[in-house]
Amino acid sequence: MTDSTDHLELSRRRVVLTGLGAAAAALLAACGRNRSADTTGAAAQAAAPTTSPSTTARATATTAPAAATTATSAPAAAATTLAATPACVDDDDVTPEQTEGPYFKPNSPERTDIRGGAAGTKLLLTGTVVTTSCRPVAKALVDVWQADTGGNYDNSGFGFRGHQFTDAQGRYHIETVIPGLYPGRTRHIHVKVQAPGGKILTTQLYFPGEPRNASDGIYRKECEVTIADAVDGKNAAFTFVLNG
Ligand SMILES: [Fe+2]
Repeated sequence: MTDSTDHLELSRRRVVLTGLGAAAAALLAACGRNRSADTTGAAAQAAAPTTSPSTTARATATTAPAAATTATSAPAAAATTLAATPACVDDDDVTPEQTEGPYFKPNSPERTDIRGGAAGTKLLLTGTVVTTSCRPVAKALVDVWQADTGGNYDNSGFGFRGHQFTDAQGRYHIETVIPGLYPGRTRHIHVKVQAPGGKILTTQLYFPGEPRNASDGIYRKECEVTIADAVDGKNAAFTFVLNG
């Protein structure tokens, strides 16, 4: 992207930010969590709108409910601008690919609760699946598997395994426990994410402040969840960013 294009893009985003409401602002914050310090923005630039505003507006209106809702109450000129511009403050990087590891099993049950009453510190992991232009991905597959609190995978059954599909706003939620440690790895959760008809992203999520993060050769800071205390455990959040 050239300097002049950058300038135009930033100007358009300023216009959009002026018109966006609280819901869209929340989405901006969520997308910002996945940015890394050494971003090149190549993927995001490739996904930036190149079609005319009117063409893009039609496409966006069917895939970005937040922007479309805002547009309905804004003047006609502003509506065109809002729908044509991705709801991002900055370019977002695609969530890094991570090794699948040896314990993935296909055909996991469709469910959001993979804890099933098992022991451990309760963890509620929530977030959204978005594109590099910050558009939510509805009906995206989110397939999760992890070790139990003792650091063991259920390889004979489907304990701590499950898949689900994001809602119309690209949201997912997983009820689980903080995974246990096992030799050679830091604490992590395995995930596969796939937009409808898209390429599968295989990755892993990590926890901030873990002593083993620094010595784990697979660990990536960009794949850390944000985490907070909850009444009965922990809440974690992560935004998956897919190409597109
Ligand atoms: Fe693992």
